[in-house]
Amino acid sequence: MDTKGYAVGEVIFDGENHKVVWLGWDTDDSGGAVQTNQYLIIHGSDGFLLDPGGVHLFSRVVSVISRYIDLDRIREILFSHQDPDVSSGIALWLGITEATIRLSSLWLRFVPHFGLVQLSRITEVPDRGEALSLGGEGEIRMIPAHFLHSPGNFSYYDTISGILFSGDIGAAVFPTGSEYLYVEDFDKHLGYMEGFHRRYMASNKVCANWVKRVRAERINMIAPQHGAIFPENQVNRFLDWFSDLQCGSDIIETINES
Ligand SMILES: [Fe+2]
Ligand SMILES: [Fe+2]
Repeated sequence: MDTKGYAVGEVIFDGENHKVVWLGWDTDDSGGAVQTNQYLIIHGSDGFLLDPGGVHLFSRVVSVISRYIDLDRIREILFSHQDPDVSSGIALWLGITEATIRLSSLWLRFVPHFGLVQLSRITEVPDRGEALSLGGEGEIRMIPAHFLHSPGNFSYYDTISGILFSGDIGAAVFPTGSEYLYVEDFDKHLGYMEGFHRRYMASNKVCANWVKRVRAERINMIAPQHGAIFPENQVNRFLDWFSDLQCGSDIIETINES
């Protein structure tokens, strides 16, 4: 990808009546804020926006979305969890779209602290997750990913594209200037994601449980909220690594002494 993609995004799945768009990166100085990925699923004329991000990204994300779909066609906005890099733009998104927001039931009473929001437009997602129908042709499944890293947390699986949107699972933090969109060298990429996962993810038990759950799906790509996308030939390598990861409470003594 050349840097043009940073500003205009890139279609990462292009099927009949169904598209998935990665919405680009900030090219200006982020002021120390962690880089994030936003994604848009377009099915027919309906848009589904995933983890649209914080306030300072808002104008860029709006302008990239507008290249692909009218804002008033965004039907749902899905939040994997409550973190500011996912959801602090919530009041702005409710103002500019007619979308319903879906969010873990654990966080409903907390997001109003990001700005005045109409709670009537937020649908609480139960711990077991739920599925959004794509006109009978497929669905977006909100798959439980609790404690990875947030206690009320979901991944999304698009049954048509086979893309698993994994939220912070699989996140990487690049040194400035070394960003890339797709993982090619897993061992090199591990250097950008291992520290984050060991400190933020709760325990090996929950990692292994999530891997078991998502392996029931046909995964063509794993698209996290930070860092790079795992193409099909890297999916198993990532899932094997994550399933064996020692993190959080497994290594609490080490964390407390660091
Ligand atoms: Fe997070
Ligand atoms: Fe995040």
